[in-house]
Amino acid sequence: MSSSSDLALTALPEIQHDGTIRVTWQSPSNIALVKYWGKYGTQLPANPSLSLTLKHAVTIMELTAVPVPKGAGNLSAFYFENKINASFAERFGTFIRSLYPAFPFLADLAITLKSHNTFPHSAGIASSASGFSALALCISSLQQMFLPSPMDEGLFLLSASRTARLGSGSACRSVYPGYSVWGETPVFKGSDNEWAITINNKIHSAFENVADAVLLVNTQAKAVSSSQGHALMQDHPYRDARVLQAGHNLQLLADSLKKGDWDNFMMVTENEALSLHALMMSSSPGYMLMNPQTIGIIQRVREYRLRTSTPVCFTLDAGPNVHLLYRPEDKQEVTRFIKNELTALCENGRWIDDEAGNGPIRLN
Ligand code: PMV
Repeated sequence: MSSSSDLALTALPEIQHDGTIRVTWQSPSNIALVKYWGKYGTQLPANPSLSLTLKHAVTIMELTAVPVPKGAGNLSAFYFENKINASFAERFGTFIRSLYPAFPFLADLAITLKSHNTFPHSAGIASSASGFSALALCISSLQQMFLPSPMDEGLFLLSASRTARLGSGSACRSVYPGYSVWGETPVFKGSDNEWAITINNKIHSAFENVADAVLLVNTQAKAVSSSQGHALMQDHPYRDARVLQAGHNLQLLADSLKKGDWDNFMMVTENEALSLHALMMSSSPGYMLMNPQTIGIIQRVREYRLRTSTPVCFTLDAGPNVHLLYRPEDKQEVTRFIKNELTALCENGRWIDDEAGNGPIRLN
C-alpha cells in the first residue's frame, strides 16, 4: 500500500505529556460493483460484494482519548467539519459502546472525534463507508497499545475491516486499496462474512487505474435509507434469486477483472446497478431512488458507448447519483462527453472527478 505519510499503518498512537492519546486516519469511500443488499445477524451480508476504493473521496478522522476511571468511558464529543454534531455523536457513540465487549479498553476512555470529508455530505458518495472505516482504523491503532504483541499489517487491516463492518457493512471494504471482496464466496479463497479481503493480486493491468466520475443528480438526503432497504430484503419475493444472482455476477466480474475484459465488466456492472434498483422497486412497500435525470444519464451513456465504442459504463449506489467508470486513457474524451451531454442533467451541473485509490493513510 502506498502512503504519503511516513508512519507505519501499525504504529502505536502518540501519547501526549498530559496522557492524552491521539491518532488520525484518512480513509476513502468505495463504490460497489457487485452490491451488498440484505443482511442478517450482526451486520453479516446476505450475499458477497465486490468494490472499488476511491481516491479523492475520503474522511479524515482524528481520535483523542483521555483515560478515565474504569467503566466511565464515553464519546465526549463529535465534531464534523469543526462543528459539534449531535446526530453523528449519537450514531458513533452507540457504535463505540457496542464495541465495549470486544474492546474493553474503550470503556475506560473518554473519546473525542473530529471528522472532515473531502466531498459534500449526501453527494451520493458513501460517507458512512469512509467515516466508519476511518474510525475503525483509529480503534485498531488504540488496540495495538493493549495487546501483548502488536498486530502485523495483515491482521491489523483485517481487524479494522471487521470493526468497520459493525458500523456500516460496506465500510469494511474501504480499508484496502483498489478492489476488495466482502462475504464468503467460492470465487475468492479466504473470503469471509466477517471482514473484507483485498483481491488486487487478481486484477489485470487494464483495470488498475479505473476512473470514476460521480454525477450529482440530487444531493438531498434519501427518502429511504440503506438500513431500511436492507431490512426490506428480509421478506423480499426475489431474495433467494438475488443471492444466486450476486454469486453468479461476482464470478463473472472476477473473470473479467482477471482477463482485462471491459465488455463483460461493463455488462455485469450495469446489471448489478439496475438489479439493485429493481429490488428496491419490487420491495414491499416498493420505492424508487432513481429520478428522471438518472435515467437520462443512463440512456446517454449507452448511446455514447454505441456511437463511439469507448468503454464507459455506469453504476449506482442506493440513490439517484450516477458513477461513470472508464479507462484513464479515455479521460479527455469522457470529460468532454460529461461536460457536453451530462452536466445538464446534474444538480447545478456538479460532478466529482475521482478514480481508484491507494487505500487509507495513517496521518499521525
Ligand atoms: O453499508 P450500507 O449499510 O450503507 O449498505 C450499502 C449498500 C450499497 O451501497 C447499496 C451497496 C454496497 O455494497 O455498498
